[in-house]
Amino acid sequence: MSVVAIDGPSGVGKSSTAKEVARRLDYAYLDTGAMYRAMAWLALSRGVTDPVDVLEQVRGADLEISTDPDEFSVSVDGIDVTDEIRSAEVSENVQTVSSVTDARAELIERQREIIAAAAPGIVVEGRDITTVVAPDAPVRILMTARDDVRVARRAKEVHGNADAEAVAATANLVTGRDAKDAATTSFLTAAEGVFTLDTSDLNFEQVVGTVLDLVKDAE
Ligand code: DC
Repeated sequence: MSVVAIDGPSGVGKSSTAKEVARRLDYAYLDTGAMYRAMAWLALSRGVTDPVDVLEQVRGADLEISTDPDEFSVSVDGIDVTDEIRSAEVSENVQTVSSVTDARAELIERQREIIAAAAPGIVVEGRDITTVVAPDAPVRILMTARDDVRVARRAKEVHGNADAEAVAATANLVTGRDAKDAATTSFLTAAEGVFTLDTSDLNFEQVVGTVLDLVKDAE
């Protein structure tokens, strides 16, 4: 079973790259950020903020996540939250869950179970996949891009363009979240043996092609 581990900050194009690589290789796909988001959605909906309560909630939650790159869905206790987890409110509150070490451990265990069950391979994206979740993966990649490039990409996604107003509205969201995320997981520099893929000056096809080449080289 082959694992392609991809880490990186928000707005770098991890999800679209990971999904496309999974499709081309006929691999499964795991969006670990969606697991943190789903648990944050649950905490928000219950008004839970205390780390002890967050941990209990994560332990007790029935978290289902699809690993089909063409049909993504995530549900908590039977409630489909696929769309809800992308809200700004959830994005701004993920740290309620992701900063709790024991809650992370719980989610990491589930991620490893999903990885172990996937065949013939799986592309896994997140912040700590190359370092903690799957440090032995044959392919480990840290995707990066210059801040201005990531902000422009996210502005286009959210506002449909990257004019000055859209960029100003997005800048803080992107770099502010990095700073918060980096407090719990270190993903801004590559760990030893991890390939740094700077996507700043590459188009989507070039990024996907580079990952596929790395997979081929590892075979
Ligand atoms: O990739 P994303 O933006 O959907 O991730 C959502 C949040 O979850 C983000 O704030 C970082 C956190 N996260 C994490 O701490 N560890 C992971 N493996 C994946 C995501």
